[in-house]
Amino acid sequence: VTVYVPRDSAARSVGADDVADSLQRAADGQGREIRVVRNGSRGLLWLEPLVEVETAEGRVGYGPVAPEDVDDLVAAGLLDGAEHPARVGVVDQLPWLARQNRVTFRRVGVTDPLSTDDYLRNGGLTGLRRALEMSPAEVVAAVTESGLRGRGGAGFPAGIKWKTVLDCDDELKFVCCNADEGDSGTYADRMLIEGDPFVLIEGMTIAAHAVGATEGYVYLRSEYPDAVATLRAAIEIARELRWLGDDVLGSGLSFDLKVRVGAGAYICGEETSMLDSLEGKRGMVRSKPPIPAIEGLFGKPTVVNNVLTLGTVPAILADGPEAYQRLGVERSRGTQVFQLGGNLRQGGIVETAFGVTLGELVEQYGGGTRSGRPVRAVQVGGPLGAYLPPSQFDLPMDYEAFAAANAMVGHGGIVVFDDTVDMAAQARFAMEFCAAESCGKCTPCRVGSVRGVEVIDRITAGDHRDENLAVLEDLCDVMTEGSLCAMGGLTPMPVRSAITHFSEDFFPPPPGQA
Ligand code: NAI
Ligand code: SF4
Repeated sequence: VTVYVPRDSAARSVGADDVADSLQRAADGQGREIRVVRNGSRGLLWLEPLVEVETAEGRVGYGPVAPEDVDDLVAAGLLDGAEHPARVGVVDQLPWLARQNRVTFRRVGVTDPLSTDDYLRNGGLTGLRRALEMSPAEVVAAVTESGLRGRGGAGFPAGIKWKTVLDCDDELKFVCCNADEGDSGTYADRMLIEGDPFVLIEGMTIAAHAVGATEGYVYLRSEYPDAVATLRAAIEIARELRWLGDDVLGSGLSFDLKVRVGAGAYICGEETSMLDSLEGKRGMVRSKPPIPAIEGLFGKPTVVNNVLTLGTVPAILADGPEAYQRLGVERSRGTQVFQLGGNLRQGGIVETAFGVTLGELVEQYGGGTRSGRPVRAVQVGGPLGAYLPPSQFDLPMDYEAFAAANAMVGHGGIVVFDDTVDMAAQARFAMEFCAAESCGKCTPCRVGSVRGVEVIDRITAGDHRDENLAVLEDLCDVMTEGSLCAMGGLTPMPVRSAITHFSEDFFPPPPGQA
């Protein structure tokens, strides 16, 4: 019997390693032979550790399984897929999963992340093989045609970025993957690397062929030790099999990949700081232009893309750009990997076509709040994203629709708060976060964020409230217009959205309740 227990760090954090050991012991005790596969996580995080058993019906899930439950579960017939209160049914058929449109995450949770057999059996390398039969310009055209936009948050068309690099006449070019996933409430990069590392290697190799690069770097945050270990192991395997290195898959392409581990600064997720950090310097934001596509790592033309962007490319090449382009709405094509978190009953990964509404994600997938209290605010797009009230639940997930609502889709993080949240405190936190994480290069951000905290404190204390609200508005203008990068430039977004939608929280408490 094959039994699956995720090795993803979200599952491990709630005891998956002990569950795997206990299963083996319990099976041995019953004289049953089992094969325990450590797969990635399916992304139904409230069910972790989710144990799956291969049956004639399909893979039957049990979850969440605590290590101390394992003996009873095995005695009750888990290895045969028997009924039990923890049995959730055939996992692929769970509506939560069946409704999704998994393209980027198609293998995550299904396969053993480091098994090349699993990878090849489930469509791995099809995209790269196809790309290697095409000219670089044809690959760039396919990516452009697919409509894929940068999934790190800015949504810049990936094909246009690649074309800029391809058009640069230089012997040395780089492909850099930004895996510094610093946004609060986001974890899709981590789960893709831990759950399907070969897809990132494949995507970066396709990018290298498309733009003429010979070296690649993955800038991976130190907070993700499991992802670092998994990716390093996958790179070793890929090198041995000549999926990387000289003569990739016999095509003559030469491309190799290194992992560099960050040291915990949020700003190193900004692409030019990341490049400084990769060069061994302190991560400071560079002025643009020049853009990295033209002068990037060590001054050379460089593709900088997020994990999800590069990880989607193999599927686009394998299925054809039209298949990806068909999904989505307006100028937001394909799928986004939404990450549901915060006060929700069912947090996890929802990969679905753009156009799904915020309300569907929070209520249908998320199942409402875990506390059972009403949802009051949802922050979309990380700590620099807007707070939206339930009255905006009809908003479709679409870069432009969100921008028109003074919000952003960003990297797809969705964090839910119930009615106990203090939105003035959340606005203050945005300024505080910016003050702590600012690289210090420009005044609107470095000084503005500190002043922002002070002004919000005065407003909530009732000190010249209206005058200080005007000062805060002014400060937000200066930060938005005058900051060098998105850190200072976007911090006003959560602040302004809190004032717009939750102005009642910016009044001082009535006397006696301070
Ligand atoms: P941006 O709009 O300045 O640039 C987007 C990308 O397009 C960059 O790679 C830029 O170099 C490239 N680009 C621009 N013009 C180009 C051209 N003509 N040819 C080729 N490439 C071109 O946005 P930025 O500052 O890179 O990112 C801001 C976004 O980052 C925010 O919207 C936010 O959503 C996101 N973000 C994501 C975080 C995460 O953890 N994933 C953390 C913080 C912010
Ligand atoms: Fe640095 Fe902030 Fe200016 Fe960005 S906006 S360059 S983080 S000081």
